[in-house]
Amino acid sequence: MSARRIAVVSAGLSTPSSTRMLADRLADATLHQLSTRGVEASVDTFELRDYAHEITNNLLTGFAAPELESMINTVVSADAIIVVTPIFTTSYSGLFKSFIDVIDKDALIGKPVLIGATAGTPRHSLAIDYAIRPLFAYLHAEAVSTGVFAASDDWGGTGDQVAPLGARIEKGAAELADAIARRDAATSSDPFDPSNYLRGGDSFENLLGGFAGD
Ligand SMILES: Cc1cc2nc3c(=O)[nH]c(=O)nc-3n(C[C@H](O)[C@H](O)[C@H](O)COP(=O)(O)O)c2cc1C
Repeated sequence: MSARRIAVVSAGLSTPSSTRMLADRLADATLHQLSTRGVEASVDTFELRDYAHEITNNLLTGFAAPELESMINTVVSADAIIVVTPIFTTSYSGLFKSFIDVIDKDALIGKPVLIGATAGTPRHSLAIDYAIRPLFAYLHAEAVSTGVFAASDDWGGTGDQVAPLGARIEKGAAELADAIARRDAATSSDPFDPSNYLRGGDSFENLLGGFAGD
């Protein structure tokens, strides 16, 4: 069985970042779950803060700089992705959404996705289900049913939790590992064909701003 590739996208802004911490925990747990299923895998992790300027430039010009293009290609050609965003004003962060906006809307069709989010208060935990999950539903990605939310108190284990953070991480990771193990390994998309991964990369009309949403 060929090794699988998991892309991890963390939209945390702080250093150190609790969002990155959750992303790493989810990735480690998924690798562990895959190994118990006899599936080899590797992880590529990206911090969107490192690409923030290029993402903005892409939104303004319609073109991705080579580093951003290569990162997007790695993400969309992975067997599965783990996305983690901080909750800002009860939703995904602006940087996270801008990243999604520069990816072709068809690039994540059928892609297994594990959603994570960090926040200050557990009262905003439903943001995963009313904001982030619908975004991936629109993109026809296949988000696993468990989304992992970590509020500040979760890290110390002091929160009023239905299940401790560690158990929620294991549950989400097990669902993603099942989704990965069920499928054949992804074949890499052509790295020289931007229509495979960049919004508007498929036609001159789209580059000029035309967009047919569905
Ligand atoms: C502009 C801004 C808006 C925020 N809005 C919310 C919010 O609506 N609900 C919440 O629980 N936390 C909110 N927070 C807190 C962040 O979600 C939380 O600190 C997050 O874990 C930070 O992630 P990081 O450590 O990776 O940067 C907000 C923080 C900022 C900076």
